[in-house]
Amino acid sequence: MSRASLDKQPRDVAAMFDAVAGRYDLTNDVLSVGQDRRWRRAVCSAVDARPGERVLDLAAGTGTSTEPFLVAGATAVACDFSVGMLSVGRRSRPGVRFVAGDAIRLPFADGTFDAVTISFGLRNVHDVDEALREMLRVTRHGGRLVVCEFSRPTFAPFRTIYVEYLMKALPYVATKVSSSPDSYVYLAESIQAWPDQQALATVIRRSGWKGVEYRNLSGGIVALHRATADKLQVT
Ligand SMILES: C[S@@+](CC[C@H](N)C(=O)[O-])C[C@H]1O[C@@H](n2cnc3c(N)ncnc32)[C@H](O)[C@@H]1O
Repeated sequence: MSRASLDKQPRDVAAMFDAVAGRYDLTNDVLSVGQDRRWRRAVCSAVDARPGERVLDLAAGTGTSTEPFLVAGATAVACDFSVGMLSVGRRSRPGVRFVAGDAIRLPFADGTFDAVTISFGLRNVHDVDEALREMLRVTRHGGRLVVCEFSRPTFAPFRTIYVEYLMKALPYVATKVSSSPDSYVYLAESIQAWPDQQALATVIRRSGWKGVEYRNLSGGIVALHRATADKLQVT
């Protein structure tokens, strides 16, 4: 099994990421034409982690998305369920604390974290609502959520070019750089099937998060959704 299908069976998703783990960071840089670095800086400033705060980076993969929080002086935990991604991460980023765990059954007590974030992970989770509820459970009252995920370019002519890139060029380029090019067909299909900015905001809101807002990056190729854990508010 080298790629998952859109029903996102957890075993298939984990196996797919196991297979791409070795060249994951390099492939990302190539396919996003370096834009991923800009997106990670935007996530870091949206999370706004203060020294000493506890941050959960869920679906952290090899820990690329976790490192900026350590640099900011926070105590960051990288959680993922792909053994392959975790072991590449542990080897290449010995300073990051990696924890094996499934987004829909997190191995953390209620209210453990000041902020929870997930970059390019939520789209791969089998039960998105349940994952968002779990993220809320492990966040303290007043804590923050930041979701970074592929979204829908807002300018129609650009969207047409982007969809062409996604469905044709990206799988081709992946054959040159990835250890498992088939997985990048899944990447393109899963981005196409993913809710747009407004629809994702609705999903986050119905999972119990408050004050949901978003902003677009790179013309809407990526969106950052932010929300707050208001556990005292009666709904
Ligand atoms: C595209 S990678 C993103 C990795 C990292 N956050 C980044 O920005 O580079 C998606 C990650 O989500 C993880 N993932 C998918 N479903 C998961 C789940 N249910 N629980 C934990 N991790 C999951 C995969 O194993 C994979 O490492």
